[in-house]
Amino acid sequence: MSAVHADGNTSTDLRYLEHASRPLDENITLTKIGLKDGHYDFFVDMFFKAYDNENIIEQWVEIRQAEKKAVTLYDFASSQLTLRAGDFWLTQFAGDWGNEMNLIEECLTRGTKIIASKLLTRATRFVNPSFIVSLSAPASEDTGEVLGASLAWPGNFSLRFEITNEGDLRIISGMNPIGSHYKLEAGTVFATPPLVFSYNNNGIGHISRNFHCWARKYGIRQGDKAGSTVFNNWETTGFDFNEKKLAGLMAEAAQAGLELFLLDDGWFGAKHPRDGDAAGLGDWAVNAKKLPGGISYLVKEAARNGIKLGLWIEPEMVNPPSELFEQHPDWVLAQPYRAHDLVRNQLVLDLTNPAVQEFILKVVDGLLNENPGIKYLKWDCNRQVTHGGSMHLPPEEQSHLWIEYPRALMSLFSKVSKSHPDVVMMLCSAGGGRLEYGSLQYFHEYWPSDNTDALQRLFIQWGCSYFFPAISICTFVSGVPHIYTGRSMPLKFRFDAAMAGKLGMDLPLSGLSVEELEFTKRAIAEYKRLRDVIMFGDLFRLVSPYEKNFCSMLYGSQDQSRAIFFCFLLHRHLGETYPPIKLKGIGPDKKYLVREVNRMPDSKSAFGEEKLISGEELVNQGINLNFKNEYDSIVLELTEK
Ligand code: DGJ
Repeated sequence: MSAVHADGNTSTDLRYLEHASRPLDENITLTKIGLKDGHYDFFVDMFFKAYDNENIIEQWVEIRQAEKKAVTLYDFASSQLTLRAGDFWLTQFAGDWGNEMNLIEECLTRGTKIIASKLLTRATRFVNPSFIVSLSAPASEDTGEVLGASLAWPGNFSLRFEITNEGDLRIISGMNPIGSHYKLEAGTVFATPPLVFSYNNNGIGHISRNFHCWARKYGIRQGDKAGSTVFNNWETTGFDFNEKKLAGLMAEAAQAGLELFLLDDGWFGAKHPRDGDAAGLGDWAVNAKKLPGGISYLVKEAARNGIKLGLWIEPEMVNPPSELFEQHPDWVLAQPYRAHDLVRNQLVLDLTNPAVQEFILKVVDGLLNENPGIKYLKWDCNRQVTHGGSMHLPPEEQSHLWIEYPRALMSLFSKVSKSHPDVVMMLCSAGGGRLEYGSLQYFHEYWPSDNTDALQRLFIQWGCSYFFPAISICTFVSGVPHIYTGRSMPLKFRFDAAMAGKLGMDLPLSGLSVEELEFTKRAIAEYKRLRDVIMFGDLFRLVSPYEKNFCSMLYGSQDQSRAIFFCFLLHRHLGETYPPIKLKGIGPDKKYLVREVNRMPDSKSAFGEEKLISGEELVNQGINLNFKNEYDSIVLELTEK
């Protein structure tokens, strides 16, 4: 940390003051180490929250002072972890819109490597604040000493990896201090976000499973409830819909067995109808031309079809053509003398302004209170912050924006989740632009990417699986050729890929053939039967798509009595053979009935007919798959006999 004290002194000399450890319950212990400057009334408390069963620690810092005037903070890390080993291999999760969470592994050399974000609202768009450090050798699933960590903060972050002159690795994580110096008044507490981390000697598979168990219990909302299968209309209709079209889609979705209809962008805007992305954002009244019966019509239609209703909102944003902007031009983030910088034709509202916070709360509460039939909310955020100036903050506190915006955002999330405990919330930022546990603690699930092309999605899902559990990731089947990649893949491949997470669909069901629709209905029914294993089971990544032309994973129930195995042929290369895939996460002493689910009628199974196989054989000899064509895929259900 770095601070300039009230009298201008730029040094801080922290000394041990006290420590205390107390159990919060039978699983969690909170430890505090109190430090105080040798001269000034300047205090730093370091906190460690240890989750015994999950082998997870959260670490953060609280800074406070009782000097005569404000102290300015210039750096405020949450944690510094120091590791000693021969080499250090860092895995980061990087990409961009439509291409999120790619694994990149490198050996760290002398100097400092910084992984950071300055995008604020879409902080995780280019890189996630999660990382793996493997000691002495590249990371492997089942062996090796590894640290996995994720910063829980929906704002600018900084992860600094510094190899010291002695060859140690120092990892300093926290909010990105760039441009964010903060005037800390006496008597106030400056809390940094927690770094959530896990460390072990058994490889990254273990780290992921620890994170998943922790997340289901503490990191996401209601991680003990499987949730609903969703039909979303975004790729199906875009902005082009009306009541009749939606009612038709709703009926088809319900008949296919889906449990929730999520109405996406485009339902609002009275004076400035939201018929495209250039107008209406900020005006959260129904577009009466498209929906003359209002939301209540949709609620009734949903009830008639026996399906739940969900709604899309993006309440932090505004299009200049909107009544909101006409009334409150001073509510947007902008810099004096600079033209507005539009991204997707929109501006960001200034969440540091209490009037803006109140407005957003009123909008969300209004929608949910007036329409108790809305059971699901997709909270989107489609632009990053540029020209980050606040018309609310005083000139000397402009740099506070980067800290106060995420704080205000989390406070809004918290208020909404508390006042609407039964509404399921999806976290979205044009895909994975806001994928981190600071936000996720208020959400049930997240949208990992706008790219629903099943082939690329498998890579994105693979990356997400390192830190985020299957129960939180929304994985939808969409149409072909894919709107962004132009790629066509069989419906079965698309379904199998989507069944490895929280299944949903976004394509015109009326465009499916009779056989495809039959397959769809059966696949949805099968998914509902199997989803508890996928949602609550342990994940074992078996074959990485980064290493082979195929990939495979397995979810196993914790008592090892059931498991769901997935395998996908990503690219067909003639002459390439497929070695048997050795299973993990099942009991070698048990016997399993292994049968294929999601089989296309009249197709030849790559596995064959169902058979009884010993756990010992599945673990040591593995499963042989007779894949023939690109995009062949298989889902196997294992049941202990
Ligand atoms: C971006 C989201 O990721 C999409 O799913 C969709 O909701 C659009 N925004 C709507 O504008």
